[in-house]
Amino acid sequence: MKTAVYRKTHFNSAHRLHNPQLSAEENERIFGKCNRPNYHGHNYELIVKVTGEIDPISGYVIDMKVLADLIKEHVEEKFDHRNLNLDTEEFKNLNPTAENIARVIYDILRSKIDIKFDLGIRLYETERNFVDFPA
Ligand code: NI
Repeated sequence: MKTAVYRKTHFNSAHRLHNPQLSAEENERIFGKCNRPNYHGHNYELIVKVTGEIDPISGYVIDMKVLADLIKEHVEEKFDHRNLNLDTEEFKNLNPTAENIARVIYDILRSKIDIKFDLGIRLYETERNFVDFPA
């Protein structure tokens, strides 16, 4: 029987949703206010879920300090108080929707966390809008 543990954190970032392959009118139709050229910010809430067996020695699934430090070093340091479009390699050519941000965070952390664990990312862009990856 596996157990899931969760680490909750947050970061603040600016972004603009825009697809350069579309016309200005199409961008505005699809992305609305999120397409405004001078960017806007969100207080992103991030919940990282790690699922695995409880280690019989420690009683932990994963050391939460280690997990917290991984998220801080590889996600928060990278995205907090940044403009995602302008300041990050990941979103230079990728539209920074909540869906894509969740996938990017998944890929970053997947490469840092032992494959014996399952990983899930939940990202809140607003209190009411959030994304799970994988679904
Ligand atoms: Ni937005």
